[in-house]
Amino acid sequence: MAGSSPLRFADFVSPTPAAAPRGAATGGTPMHREPMSVLPETLEESTALYPLPEGELRRLDLRKWILNYVPKGGVGAEVGAFRGHFSETLLQWLEPRKAWFVDGWTRRGEFYGDDKDRLLTSDGTLPTALARQEAQWRTERFVNVERRYVEGTFPACAGKIDDPLDWLYLDLDLDLDVDAIVAALHVAEGMMTPKGILFGNGWWPNTTTAHNALFQAVTHFTRKTKYEIVAAGPYGQWAVRHRGAWRGKKQRDE
Ligand SMILES: C[S@@+](CC[C@H](N)C(=O)[O-])C[C@H]1O[C@@H](n2cnc3c(N)ncnc32)[C@H](O)[C@@H]1O
Repeated sequence: MAGSSPLRFADFVSPTPAAAPRGAATGGTPMHREPMSVLPETLEESTALYPLPEGELRRLDLRKWILNYVPKGGVGAEVGAFRGHFSETLLQWLEPRKAWFVDGWTRRGEFYGDDKDRLLTSDGTLPTALARQEAQWRTERFVNVERRYVEGTFPACAGKIDDPLDWLYLDLDLDLDVDAIVAALHVAEGMMTPKGILFGNGWWPNTTTAHNALFQAVTHFTRKTKYEIVAAGPYGQWAVRHRGAWRGKKQRDE
């Protein structure tokens, strides 16, 4: 990125909103959330300023098991790319030819504030534009992968992804309700290749926890469609596939 502004996002489908100058009037906003016109210039600087907690870094590693259920190559997408930590893992393990990264990023405001898990956003002080930049930094080193970035809310922005997907990783906010997730799954269903794997994060079956909606939505989705669960469980990971497309010849002949 040497010599180029960290606020340039030529690859992004959506336009980058102009950043307000540092120190502009903020109407009593705390100092640490002043508008930033100058973001860190490198991933190293950004990571040092806004570190991800150790536990979250460990969890990234522990989530990898689900990738065993996803064929390598092809075209994939990640909804909820955030800072690109898991995006890197997806590219490294799945070696797609092309990958789409989707997130609301700056549409959520200039900083994450109270809007998102404070542990992941350095107590809400992480600028949303920086999360987007980090996602780009973390993925652009995979030079053999054709990369596309979409800033928008899924499923509303689904039309911008104009490839059939061999895999789609959904990392949605955990506070969505069941109907919203079911709606997103139905849209995702229409974006997949016949043997595409739809998978993601947030599988918490324990009904006594608040974040149980994804589990309910995915199980409902598999009852209403021809999708079946391939794997689900540890560290909130889950994967489903179209059962017709994956039926063996023997089963098809029966
Ligand atoms: C927990 S973070 C994801 C982290 C990332 N997948 C990782 O593991 O490193 C969730 C991200 O998903 C984004 N997100 C949640 N729901 C979304 C939706 N419906 N459309 C687009 N982005 C969404 C949020 O903005 C947030 O950045």
